Amino acid sequence: MRLDVLTIFPEYLAPLNVSLVGKACARGVLDVRVSDLREWTYDRHNTVDDTPYGGGPGMVMKPDPWGEALDTVLADGYEAGAHTPALVVPTPSGRPFTQELAVELSERPWLIFAPARYEGIDRRVMDEYATRMPVYEVSIGDYVLAGGEAPVLVITEAVARLLPGVLGNAESHRDDSFAPGAMADLLEGPVYTKPPVWRGRAIPSMLTSGHHGKIARWRRDEALARTAEMRPDLIERCDPAGFDKKDRETLSILGWAPEPGGRFWRRPSVVEE
Ligand code: ADE
Repeated sequence: MRLDVLTIFPEYLAPLNVSLVGKACARGVLDVRVSDLREWTYDRHNTVDDTPYGGGPGMVMKPDPWGEALDTVLADGYEAGAHTPALVVPTPSGRPFTQELAVELSERPWLIFAPARYEGIDRRVMDEYATRMPVYEVSIGDYVLAGGEAPVLVITEAVARLLPGVLGNAESHRDDSFAPGAMADLLEGPVYTKPPVWRGRAIPSMLTSGHHGKIARWRRDEALARTAEMRPDLIERCDPAGFDKKDRETLSILGWAPEPGGRFWRRPSVVEE
């Protein structure tokens, strides 16, 4: 996968050389190129921003440097054999970044990131490139960062670990929280490793019982309990057809009951506590 980042803080992207993403680059699974947006400015101060039309606080990123930078990167990528680019623009006003979107992006051969600073990029840039390629405007959460570079790191890490050959074990993301499949829509429960007793705290004895079926059931109950506590909205959203008899028993013990439609809701007495 080719990955371009256009930014006024190229040094902010240094972590892309480290750990999982760095290894993916070293192995040739990822081809990351970071470019300084200011290379496409021609005034003495390398200006990339200007005041907003209509007034208001803050500054807006000018379309000219973005247009020239994107055209250059696109031409270079095509020459290098990359095809069907997609533009990813991190912004708090974008669609939520989810595991599903990470999977979709991981299936594309070429991502171009356009992280903004200030109040954002002149709207016409996204409108212009949307006529040529998919444009994903993406928010990594309901909070406002100073710029899109940290979201680029977040999105890249979530995408890179899904690329074939990046995680050693293909099974590794099967049980991820939010992964499609067996534990879909449930958060992962607790995990333990050696030693069996640490500061007087023993691991749950079930995990050394050797009963694989019972261990799977225990893990599922822990996942249900964790999700009910941390993300009750996920339980409410779950398709009840995905709950077996034991899931229903566990949910009932946790204070959840099915509505006539089948979906689970927390019983009011539990909500009040
Ligand atoms: N830029 C600033 N805040 C952001 C957020 N929450 N998600 C994506 N990009 C951003």
